[in-house]
Amino acid sequence: MDSFSPLLDRALFHARSWIASLGKRPVRPEASLETLRQSFAGELPETGQDPLEVIDLLAQAGEPGLMATAGPRFFGFVIGGSQPVALAADWLTSAWDQNAGLYVASPTVAVLEDTAGRWLNRLFGLPVEAGVGFVTGGQMANFTALAAARQALLARTGWDVSEQGLYGAPEIHVVVGEEVHVTILRSLRFLGLGQARVKRVRADAQGRMDPDALPAVLADCRGPTLVCVQAGNVNTGAVDPMESLISAAHAHGAWVHVDGAFGLWAAASPRTRELLRGVEEADSWAVDAHKWLNVPYDSGVAIVRDPAMLARAVGTSASYLVRSTGLRDGVDFVPEFSRRGRGTPVYAALRAMGRRGVEAVVDRCCALARRFAERLERSSGVHVLNEVVLNQVLVQFEPPGGGDADTFTREVIGRVQTDGTCWLGGSRWKQKDVMRISISGWNTTEDDIDRSAAAVLRCAGRA
Ligand SMILES: Cc1ncc(COP(=O)(O)O)c(C=O)c1O
Repeated sequence: MDSFSPLLDRALFHARSWIASLGKRPVRPEASLETLRQSFAGELPETGQDPLEVIDLLAQAGEPGLMATAGPRFFGFVIGGSQPVALAADWLTSAWDQNAGLYVASPTVAVLEDTAGRWLNRLFGLPVEAGVGFVTGGQMANFTALAAARQALLARTGWDVSEQGLYGAPEIHVVVGEEVHVTILRSLRFLGLGQARVKRVRADAQGRMDPDALPAVLADCRGPTLVCVQAGNVNTGAVDPMESLISAAHAHGAWVHVDGAFGLWAAASPRTRELLRGVEEADSWAVDAHKWLNVPYDSGVAIVRDPAMLARAVGTSASYLVRSTGLRDGVDFVPEFSRRGRGTPVYAALRAMGRRGVEAVVDRCCALARRFAERLERSSGVHVLNEVVLNQVLVQFEPPGGGDADTFTREVIGRVQTDGTCWLGGSRWKQKDVMRISISGWNTTEDDIDRSAAAVLRCAGRA
């Protein structure tokens, strides 16, 4: 008997039972750290264990320590689930075990990624020839796109940062919104641009960069300038006013990068597209497939208008790397060298859903977020603090008997997490502790929202 089949069959069995349990089990993990350590920690064994036993151990001892993030009532952070076709394609990706770095190493994956990239560009209304790199997530998508920005901005001054590094290079001015996501700042750190040197543009009550405040900030930037705007504030879901910000930044000669980790998906629906008007004018974009497209982790996408600039920033070559004469070599689009065929599940999801399917997921998540907000706001002392424009809801709870709303809101969040009907986290918004609800799953229904809203109100003493 071949050595794969029994293990793959066993993994399939465990995977099916895990997936079947997602809508029924408490959303939170149940196992304590101590229990998990007892099962998994300890010394590296001297001799190996039966592989079937290892797979059983992972499932039986591991599942109690898993969060049901792929289930229909997980509303923490911004985490999508895994739609069946994407998960199945991800399994094939592992089974194929292709190295997506070069066309010659996997022509199929190169064609799948090339096509998925074009489809994404069309879906978002971006230039179809823009370069698309399949990276691990929004963090790396931001990093990759900003590496291209750094390359291009310095090239315009005659400086090749890939060759010369940053020592002695002209200074790049970096402009961000007050509510910039931490992964932009972290990317700037990695790129030697420094996270404390950024110039911040005032944001409004929803976290949108104020276009009236940008010109004065730009006036202070003499030389290469990078402006980072945001589609989808991680707390409120708000989208920066793209058209006015991008045209002001371009008039200044700046490179504009859009962090659209989840918000760029809103461009796929006519109902939310207007929020992103002008987004296609930017120079680079970051978006996550493991968020609204609901493909398994890890899957982010870096898009750069000028693929040659992306290749100059991140690509590489060596005498033993056989370059294709025809289609893309993955190594020109991402900072990785060897990597899995990450674009395959993206391709499968897009092909199975079509444009209409993506639109439907975006619309449904936004409608469910509004429903959650409405259900909660029916109770007195429960305040939704944001305009629910996308899939994010921020809530603060007044204690029924009076007292500190920040403390009480944190307590309610803790109770909801323990209750297990759903899972959501907290954040701080405009000097207030808030409950943060994010609807990103393909499988969440109205009933899931109603059950979850009822659980939240119960935990807030409102039932
Ligand atoms: C606006 C924004 N940018 C970037 C990221 C980082 O994405 P990832 O966690 O996939 O690296 C997130 C994650 O939620 C986000 O909301």
